[in-house]
Amino acid sequence: YVIGVDLGTSAVKVSAMNKAGEIVAQQSYDYPLSQPRPGYSEQAPQDWLYATTIAIDRLILRDGIAKEEIQGISFSGQMHGLVLLDENNQVLRPAILWNDTRTTKQCQEIMDKVGEEFIEITGNRPLEGFTLPKLLWVKENEPEIWAKAKTFLLPKDYVRYCMTGKLGMDYSDATGTVLLDIHQGTWSKALCEALDVPLSICPPLVKSVDLTGNVSAGYAMFSGLTTTTKVFAGGGDNACGAVGAGILQPNMVMSSIGTSGVVLKYEENANVNYHGQLQFECHAIPDSYYSMGVTLAAGHSLNWFKGTFDSEEDFNQMVAKASERPLGANGLLFTPYVVGERAPYADADIRGSFIGVDSMQNRYDFVRAVMEGITFSFRDILNIYEQNGRDFDTVVAIGGGAKSDFWLQMQADIFNKKVVALTNEQGPGLGAAMIAAVGLGWFDNLQECAKEFVHFGKEYQPNSANVAKYDQLYGLYHQVYDQTKELSH
Ligand code: XUL
Repeated sequence: YVIGVDLGTSAVKVSAMNKAGEIVAQQSYDYPLSQPRPGYSEQAPQDWLYATTIAIDRLILRDGIAKEEIQGISFSGQMHGLVLLDENNQVLRPAILWNDTRTTKQCQEIMDKVGEEFIEITGNRPLEGFTLPKLLWVKENEPEIWAKAKTFLLPKDYVRYCMTGKLGMDYSDATGTVLLDIHQGTWSKALCEALDVPLSICPPLVKSVDLTGNVSAGYAMFSGLTTTTKVFAGGGDNACGAVGAGILQPNMVMSSIGTSGVVLKYEENANVNYHGQLQFECHAIPDSYYSMGVTLAAGHSLNWFKGTFDSEEDFNQMVAKASERPLGANGLLFTPYVVGERAPYADADIRGSFIGVDSMQNRYDFVRAVMEGITFSFRDILNIYEQNGRDFDTVVAIGGGAKSDFWLQMQADIFNKKVVALTNEQGPGLGAAMIAAVGLGWFDNLQECAKEFVHFGKEYQPNSANVAKYDQLYGLYHQVYDQTKELSH
């Protein structure tokens, strides 16, 4: 078996898979999130370790997976979180997570000192969630901790370090620190010098499929594992999610409607510059990349609407009734900026709106308008690809948006592209297990592994009459941001 560890923000989920790509057992274990001040979001790295260890133990003890048969383990991790270690590799302070927003000042300082060259080097604009601004925050606000800091890691790298005793970070997660020079594939000396961060704090770089070591004797004693199990580097959760969704060639884009929404495209090389409008990261596939735009409130907008205006209704029923309302929700338009936006507008202050409210509309026009608005926000991101001449023909839909025929067809019509769902959607944990399977040599590469592990289901083709109607509505939707920007601030 291989085990894919999906180290998320609220829980870890571990999946044991066999060579045929079937899930034979799954366990998960929660951990708390601490928000000691507004905008702060922290977790104890030790909690990740205990939770992962308990969850793996349960695969062995409760699900009967023989420990000797666990050949490999790999990871998908929540991205960007800063774990600081001292000279003995002990944790110095709670990890500062991807959704912590205390670093606006540091992001500004980076742009003041480095300017547009920063985007050239890293492929990204510095955003509050990324790791480098967090390092600069600790340096400025906790000098006594900064003085002791010898290495930094990302969440899954810390758990892997505890399993193997080896420090390392894979390229896909390293790009999310915004300290990696994406053209050289090395830590950026220039940025470290300009921002006065010692290069030595950066851990060794490895590929996602690289073996980082076997389970150590110490960890074998602490957990139920044996030292014969091999541990592979793994990747950031978006890279692993893309692997698990089969986004492994240039013609493919992923559309993920979860609490937040992600539009992600496979990129063959780092020669494309989206000028910081999209995130740009190394993929878990060696020497390839992906770009990504995040809609902060995708499923969250629909949950908010449901919870605020009637929490009792069954979700599927609500969506089914919305599907009976006419396309365009009888003239109602919604923009999903209910917690601000990240792409295509990096604007924390913008807020959402309903436009065209009419007394002839009913509750399900509103539900439909919310779903259409979320999908239009994805089209806004897809337009960036079009503007940059980036072609693709298939959108693989995952998450809540892939659970209803209605929403899948709506995506095909609004994107004017073929949309495909998966029959065995497992999220980033599947990608992590695939990385271990390739690391072990079960397959030559992730593309070969996907043939066995990733299964595409029904295809949804755009309906030309609907495409034309949505095109017109999208034209209106696209104007709302500029028109309401002043009102929201
Ligand atoms: C990506 C991001 C999130 C985290 C969630 O930039 O901030 O998707 O990776 O774990």
